[in-house]
Order: sequence, then C-alpha cells, then structure tokens
Amino acid sequence: MLLKNSLHISHDMVSKVVQPGDAVVDATMGNGNDTLFLAKLVGAEGKVYGFDVQQLALDNTRKRLEDAGVSDRAELILDGHQNIDKYVPAGIKAVMFNLGYLPKGDHNIGTRAETTIAAIEKSMQLLSKEGIVMIVVYYGGDSGFEEKNAVMEYFKTIDCKKYSVLVQDFVNQINCPPIAVCIEKMED
Ligand SMILES: C[S@@+](CC[C@H](N)C(=O)[O-])C[C@H]1O[C@@H](n2cnc3c(N)ncnc32)[C@H](O)[C@@H]1O
Repeated sequence: MLLKNSLHISHDMVSKVVQPGDAVVDATMGNGNDTLFLAKLVGAEGKVYGFDVQQLALDNTRKRLEDAGVSDRAELILDGHQNIDKYVPAGIKAVMFNLGYLPKGDHNIGTRAETTIAAIEKSMQLLSKEGIVMIVVYYGGDSGFEEKNAVMEYFKTIDCKKYSVLVQDFVNQINCPPIAVCIEKMED
C-alpha cells in the first residue's frame, strides 16, 4: 500500500535526513525502538541523546543498544525532554517524539501537553538548517485528548517563515490512529 502508518512515516522521514556522523535526539526513549533506529543511522561517528523520565525506560533502552553493539554512540538521560537544552548542543539533525505512555508500562506516566510543547519549541531551536522534529501523536484511550488537542493547536502557531509543518492524519479511520507530524527548519 502507498499510504503507510505514522510510525513508518516517522522512520521514513528521519532516515531521509539523517546521515552518518550526525547528532540526533530520541525525546521519548520508552523501550528504545527509536533510539536503536537512530543509533544505526548515525553510525560509529554519530551521537544519539535519549531522554525519558522512567529508569525502566533507560534500562530497557540501554540493553537494546548493548545487544546491538551500538551503546557507545548513545547518551541516555534520566530527565524530562523539556530540559533538552541543558544537555544537547545546537546543530541537531533530527529529534523524535512518540507521545503517550510506555507500552506495557505505567499508563499514568505519559507525556503531557505543557512539557511536550516546551520540549518541541526547544528542539526546533537546536535543529541545524533542514533538520526535522518528528512527532508521532498517540491519543484516545488512556492518553485522552488533552495533549493531542493542545499540540495540534500549537503546530498551527509555528512561524511559517522559519519552519514548515506537515501533518499526516488518517481522517476516516476508527480508534484514533496515531498522527505523524514533521517540522522542518528552513533557516537558522
Ligand atoms: C509512547 S512511549 C515511547 C515509546 C518509544 N519510542 C519506544 O520505542 O518504545 C512515551 C515515553 O515518554 C516518556 N515520557 C513521559 N514524559 C516524558 C518527559 N517529560 N520527558 C521524556 N520522556 C517522557 C514515558 O516515560 C514513555 O516511556
């Protein structure tokens, strides 16, 4: 099928911009799927910064990276992504977010509108020219609609002279399919 799901689109977009040697961020490590994906893309000379507020997420991600032999190129940070600017220097090629809660984990420790928007704003400032922030917005169910509604409104307010924002939403599907959002920086 031509139209792929949001996770697929997210990986597709990121793999189009990230080159070996780049510095990138996984803003919501969870079980480390995206951290591992990014670690492979940036190669031995690149760097991945991973954030999560749960020790379990760090432990799971570290194990995934070690099993794949790529843990040396990743820095895993036990802190909220809203503090990204304390750890990550400017010149980042891609920042990935998967909003919501850790699958099979505590559904109460999900991402929140206020901190998510703060983190996205800071991420945009840290991007290099033509770098992207890629967000997969999970909502409905235990996640509810509050964060989704707030971030979707926020995206419309982003300065169109500096950033392009593309939203992929399967508007005729049932059960709140995740929405993929790509923010591209057009100028420094
Ligand atoms: C949908 S899961 C991420 C799934 C992950 N990408 C994967 O591949 O398994 C969302 C994660 O965001 C984390 N999280 C919640 N609030 C956060 C915050 N302020 N900063 C960083 N991570 C946060 C949760 O602990 C959870 O692990």
